[in-house]
Amino acid sequence: MFRAVESARAERDRLFDDPYAECFLDGKLKVGARLSGNRAGQRLVCSYIDRNWPGSRPSAVIRTKLIDDSVSAALEGGAGQVAILGAGYDTRGLRLPAAMSVPVFELDQPPTQERKKSRLVERDGVLPENVTYVPFDLLEEGVGMPLERAGFGTGRRSVFIWEGVLSYLTPEAVDSTLEWISGTGATGSRLVFTYVDVALLRESGDGQPPWSAQVARVGEPFRYGLDPATIETFLGDRGLRLIWDESTAEALSRETRIRGGGNAPSFYRVAEAEVGL
Ligand SMILES: C[S@@+](CC[C@H](N)C(=O)[O-])C[C@H]1O[C@@H](n2cnc3c(N)ncnc32)[C@H](O)[C@@H]1O
Repeated sequence: MFRAVESARAERDRLFDDPYAECFLDGKLKVGARLSGNRAGQRLVCSYIDRNWPGSRPSAVIRTKLIDDSVSAALEGGAGQVAILGAGYDTRGLRLPAAMSVPVFELDQPPTQERKKSRLVERDGVLPENVTYVPFDLLEEGVGMPLERAGFGTGRRSVFIWEGVLSYLTPEAVDSTLEWISGTGATGSRLVFTYVDVALLRESGDGQPPWSAQVARVGEPFRYGLDPATIETFLGDRGLRLIWDESTAEALSRETRIRGGGNAPSFYRVAEAEVGL
């Protein structure tokens, strides 16, 4: 929804264009996304969202932009394939020019992946040729086997996207995924990911910001977080070198094109790491 609303803004104002985002929406969300195609509708829809879910829309928009830029730069810098872990409705393999010409492996749980594929077929008649859809359950089988079975080239410089997923995993699943990524042998491969600051998970009840209380209410509470103060060591211990790490609030403070950023939470973070020697 947030990506569809942002994509409906005028070309000079929006941070990215995801022309596929709307096709995954139904009902009120679809109506809202369509309404946001003109200035008055955009203001109305954004103020409704921002009043009810303060900070989450600008945070999602800026994280999309940060990750788009990182993925494009890594591919332009020589990476030859992309793996999207817990892809959901990520359409970077279809919309980022640098990703459209390389193999993209989308991993997700089968129900979400099947729904995504059927919406794309309804929209375009076909599925994109460069994308391989890999059904998996990260908690059950990890990422290595499913990716290798699907033809992912280990030892090849790659970009891994892990957006909006870590907070639902276990420490063991996060560790084994990072260790598999760093162990694929592809020096210079990039991992761009989001996480919540572990300090948030220590808050309870009234101490919780509205966003985390909201995700908990819909049955998807944040369960896992990392400490920004130690993330460099955390990644280093798992064979990865931290390149950058910032909260979406910090990133929004540099971005004047997005309104409502003042409410973005400082606990939601985006980071990029590199597979070292
Ligand atoms: C919040 S969505 C994020 C989707 C997408 N990466 C994005 O940022 O728009 C979380 C995604 O992680 C996937 N996911 C969560 N737990 C998973 C697991 N155990 N195995 C595989 N995928 C999982 C969900 O199916 C969903 O697509």
